[in-house]
Amino acid sequence: VSRVIPVDTFDLVLFGATGDLARRKILPSLFHRYKIGQFDKTCRVIGASRSVLTQDGFRDLVTEALQTYGHPDDTNSTDIAAFVSLLDYVAIDAKGDDGWTDLAEHLRPDVVQAFYLSVAPSLFADIAGRLKSKKIATADSRIVVEKPFGHDLASAKALNAALGAHFEEHQIYRIDHYLGKETVQNLMALRFANSLFEPLWNSSQIDHVQITVAESIGVEGRGEYYDRSGAMRDMVQNHLMQLLCLTAMEPPARFTPNAVRNEKLKVIEALEPVAQDEIARGQYRASAEGGDGYLDHAGDPNSKTESFIAMKVKVANWRWNGTPFYLRTGKCLRARESEIAVFFRAPPHNIFDAGKPVAGNVLVIRLQPDEGITLHTTIKDPGPGGMRLTTAKLDMTFADSLPEAGRPQDAYERLIMDVIRGNQTLFMRGDEVEAAWNWADPLIKGWNDAGTAPQSYDQGSSGPEDSLLLMHRDNRRWREIS
Ligand code: BG6
Repeated sequence: VSRVIPVDTFDLVLFGATGDLARRKILPSLFHRYKIGQFDKTCRVIGASRSVLTQDGFRDLVTEALQTYGHPDDTNSTDIAAFVSLLDYVAIDAKGDDGWTDLAEHLRPDVVQAFYLSVAPSLFADIAGRLKSKKIATADSRIVVEKPFGHDLASAKALNAALGAHFEEHQIYRIDHYLGKETVQNLMALRFANSLFEPLWNSSQIDHVQITVAESIGVEGRGEYYDRSGAMRDMVQNHLMQLLCLTAMEPPARFTPNAVRNEKLKVIEALEPVAQDEIARGQYRASAEGGDGYLDHAGDPNSKTESFIAMKVKVANWRWNGTPFYLRTGKCLRARESEIAVFFRAPPHNIFDAGKPVAGNVLVIRLQPDEGITLHTTIKDPGPGGMRLTTAKLDMTFADSLPEAGRPQDAYERLIMDVIRGNQTLFMRGDEVEAAWNWADPLIKGWNDAGTAPQSYDQGSSGPEDSLLLMHRDNRRWREIS
């Protein structure tokens, strides 16, 4: 029985169609969903960008992208040929008049219409404005924008205003691809479709939460963009913030876009300002084996931009007062590993060995790799030696538990199909993004004003010393990145 629910016929216009993200993620995701039958030959994907390309030239470019970046199962050339026959191309000048009439002629009035802006945010206003002034977009069209959504609160407000001048909020899809990840949605299923966890999901039972998004790659190739952002803007303000929100939010009454987003917004608004001494920033150095350091790619040999950040975040509300959330993310760390680890409080009393502490349970929600959930439990050591306690894992890897479900879907696949379905649940609302910047801006200003440089750390490590100290001070430890 197919699990695929077909979507309505659509025209998807992909601005920035020859760019990196389009070739690596967006087009391979679309192809996969075509291949599994979620949409058919009646749909059109219209590439748009500045490059002068013929329709065939674009199809060739996409064929190559699919062969290079597609999933290893998605290499059948007949399938690829069928998919690229849905593609069209329009050369367009985002800041001028060229190409817009051509684009209008490609669009059909009676199908779902989505405009995906996989371009620099500086072009959002130009494109949104022309889609409207040239009467291409309708009141039902959807507009999709990629991150970064702003550089600070002021620029995020300006982007919201620019989009809002031409589109209603219910038409605007702000992508945070972390929301499309399988485990992130499973976090909501875990919390709100089981009665086991939610009664314990508060500061009386939970000691602290650790959210880690560790990456093993560096900033090669995108050093210039990255140097203007740093880990705080690139990862924390958006991806880690979303993970924090979904972990900390109150149960929405329904799984509907605004019910979910209202609850997330409340979490962001409850965040306390983070003091500078509760933030650890790092920058990876060149390795002894000759691996480039951060500064080799930053474009500024004196850059003080962080490639790692850890911090202690407090959600000041009834549920969470007294339970800190520790966040950390960085490049060139020991492994690519992302998880949310919920540390439950230790049992109040040890009946087996009075006075000796018993470890608290830890619930680990793994985003990548090996999406799954692990509960660390205390059991009796099965060996001889009496009533000795040890820790064992109740382990569930989604892929092993439900092999018939197939491989986990790429975040972009799900998100693009949600755009076509008109479901905004997994997209950020304008006020959410602004609230996140409102929280992030003073932190960034704090270290910029103080002129503090990030502490350097070894590639392949788990970050700078200060990050460990941040935990030691509270008598806690980070989980190993392994
Ligand atoms: C992007 C960041 O949004 O997310 C990158 O700009 C980062 O710096 C990437 O590498 C991580 O995404 P994923 O899905 O590989 O965890």
